[in-house]
Amino acid sequence: MKNCLILSENESDLETAGKIIRNGGLVAFPTETVYGLGANAFDSEAVENIFKAKGRPGDNPLIVHISDKEQISDIVSEINPKAKALIDAFFPAPLTVIMKKNKNIPDNVSAGLDTVGVRMPENKIARKFIKAAGVPIAAPSANKSGRPSPTSAEYVIKDIGECIDAVIDGGECSVGVESTVITTVGDIPEILRPGAVTKEDIEKVIGKVTVSRAAFENIKVDKAPSPGMKYKHYAPKAEVVIVKGGKEKYEKFVNMHKSAFALCFEDDNVDIPKVVYGTDGDSESQAKNLFSSLRHLDEHGAKKVYARFPNSNGVGAAVYNRLLRAAAFRIIDLNKPFLIGLTGQTGAGKGYVGKYLTKLGFNVLDSDIYARKVLNDTEVLNNLSNEFGKDVLKDGKLDRKLLAERSFSDKDKTEKLNKIMHPAILRSAEKDALFPAVLDAALLFEAGADKLSFITVSVIADEDLRIKRIMKRDGISKSEAMLRIGAQHSSDFYIENSDCVVINDGRDIEIQIKKILEEKL
Ligand code: TXA
Ligand code: MG
Repeated sequence: MKNCLILSENESDLETAGKIIRNGGLVAFPTETVYGLGANAFDSEAVENIFKAKGRPGDNPLIVHISDKEQISDIVSEINPKAKALIDAFFPAPLTVIMKKNKNIPDNVSAGLDTVGVRMPENKIARKFIKAAGVPIAAPSANKSGRPSPTSAEYVIKDIGECIDAVIDGGECSVGVESTVITTVGDIPEILRPGAVTKEDIEKVIGKVTVSRAAFENIKVDKAPSPGMKYKHYAPKAEVVIVKGGKEKYEKFVNMHKSAFALCFEDDNVDIPKVVYGTDGDSESQAKNLFSSLRHLDEHGAKKVYARFPNSNGVGAAVYNRLLRAAAFRIIDLNKPFLIGLTGQTGAGKGYVGKYLTKLGFNVLDSDIYARKVLNDTEVLNNLSNEFGKDVLKDGKLDRKLLAERSFSDKDKTEKLNKIMHPAILRSAEKDALFPAVLDAALLFEAGADKLSFITVSVIADEDLRIKRIMKRDGISKSEAMLRIGAQHSSDFYIENSDCVVINDGRDIEIQIKKILEEKL
């Protein structure tokens, strides 16, 4: 256990910090992005202690920080024209440029790669400290591995104070998310981690660049282009879920979850406990507050957190990238018209589940009602008469019996009927789909309504039970009931195709539904 010195930005304190570095120690320091945990980049033993202090996997390379551009030639073996253009245009900046490393840089800095990331911070205290040390400083963010990056000295001390020699307290970081990382080593430069220097900023200087798929997708690769991207990151103790769909739907959604926390924007009207992480439409404010907000959620003891989806353009790309990792890529998409698509076998108890969801405040739409409604729609009627004969319409009214005879006579015809009816039913239900909407539809999958639903829930039950239920419900014989059941999908079909299954066999249905709502929404 170490006694961590707390230093200020005055000259003698920075001199002390520089000396600690030259003696092989570890100093945490402020930058405009987040606090870094620094060691002499030429001293492999000191660098080893960074990995130990953070609990960082050895295959995740460190960035080398400089105070003057002249230092770059001591670190890299080659500065290609695009790297040079980026350095000239941006340094000092929240930008890390990856180049081929030279032999001065120990292997543990670059985690065995033949490349190294170089960054000249904009923050003046950082540059004065690096200058005082007289050597380039290898530094990752100064958090325990996996935790949100620290944006104040206080968070550094909380996370790793016992494992480091000193921290320079430079107040709160102005940017709040780590630097943009770009590699210039391949044919087309690639942004490996979005940050405050945006893709658009960079393209103005060096033309087309790509953004690594791993920035926004949960790709599982052994050799990620930027090793840091394969680890769980920025995670608070709470389970975080990102909620997409705009202010109004977000508000309605979170207000349904009384025991959760909202990670929202300043003007959001939420009446559950909340932590604000910026202003709607202002990505800079969101970037600045995101990590401290994630830490505040822990301080409040939050267990489940619904985060408002940020605008993901410009600096917002960095915010979204970090939030995705904090949420382990879990997103609830309220842009789909139906929050739940409800289906299941006849007689299994779908209706009962629908009633229970209504009681919980969901807006349950019965597709049968819409099926009847669309039969008053002139376009639907015209399509039906074109397909099944003019005489299915008598004085503009549908002869249902005749239509049934013609459309159910063979599979092909039934399909043609469905092709006319299903889209019309869905369009009509969508119009009434006030959030949070549930579409109750026996033919949910056949109609393609599963794609319009955020989750699909099927209700299934044992065949004997279903036969008894339909006999009683519809007053029909056992053989008639069996005939109907025989025309339906098996339980396996529903288990395979839906996100969740409710089994109605005497187990408590309400408990099963509550569990689904808790886990999936
Ligand atoms: O803003 C920042 O960049 C902060 C401050 C302290 O400068 N530093 C920082 O370092 O965020 P760290 O270690 O937490 O994140 C560095 C990221 C990691 O994802 C790492 O995998 C990637 O940069 N990286 C470093 N060197 C690399 C290399 N040679 N090739 C590919 N990725 C590299
Ligand atoms: Mg980090």
